[in-house]
Amino acid sequence: MLVSAKEMLDKALEGHYAVGQFNINNLEWTKAILETAQELKSPVILGVSEGAGKYMTGYKTVVKMVEGMVEEMGITVPVAIHLDHGSYEGAKKAIEAGFTSVMFDGSHYSIDENVEKTKDIVNLAHSKGISVEAEVGSIGGEEDGVVGTGEFADPAECKMIADLGIDFLAAGIGNIHGVYPENWQGLNFDVLAEIQKEVGKLPLVLHGGTGIPTDMIKEAISLGVSKINVNTECQLAFADATRKYIEAGKDKEGKGFDPRKLLAPGTQAIKDTVKEKMEIFGSIGKA
Ligand code: 13P
Repeated sequence: MLVSAKEMLDKALEGHYAVGQFNINNLEWTKAILETAQELKSPVILGVSEGAGKYMTGYKTVVKMVEGMVEEMGITVPVAIHLDHGSYEGAKKAIEAGFTSVMFDGSHYSIDENVEKTKDIVNLAHSKGISVEAEVGSIGGEEDGVVGTGEFADPAECKMIADLGIDFLAAGIGNIHGVYPENWQGLNFDVLAEIQKEVGKLPLVLHGGTGIPTDMIKEAISLGVSKINVNTECQLAFADATRKYIEAGKDKEGKGFDPRKLLAPGTQAIKDTVKEKMEIFGSIGKA
């Protein structure tokens, strides 16, 4: 069932668990995530970065593919197609193409410009029942060309953006896209607690979900995090399983080169990763 992400995240905040956003790259990725969500009766958010959208030939292709899969696979759990780190123009395009949720990432603008642009996107998206994620502070590291310095979000600025009527907020609290470096300082829960105090009952989003220890995830959820984004971990699991298959020479046995066989171990690895995350996030059985 394709839906906006608002209701599933309001419920998650209320129920003290988080819904996973798993980024997609192609058909195998999408199928693996949808299958797992349905098997585990979990709501799910399919994240699409602007780069991945281009790779899949455009937002319309993504929407039609997901719509088709939801129908043909008989998916009954709530599923949102969500633009990840959208630019101002990108968010408008995704809304036009039929995404059910968008992130407008105005964190690299001045706070005044972030407020102005976020307001426009909220008005446009809400007129079509589409949910909106905004960002304050920045997520460190790089994702699909979006580079962030990793500065902490200012709780007062979070309040300004929250007051625009956004549906959920990404706030930098020391989280980083990609694999965490050895000397990572961890999440800053003091900043998170201050943000939560300012924004009240607004679901918060934790980007950079790859490699965050379980105890930190649980503490973040207890402080209002209701959506956690995971991308790199599925990519690493897919690459690892595919490499093992090829290194074992399985593509040379019989028809092992058939793409449906060649991509099967990687697809299964994505399913296993998604399951593991849903267990930690507590979203199993919540659909
Ligand atoms: P990771 O790639 O670190 O899991 O981050 C994903 C993310 O935050 C998507 O926006």
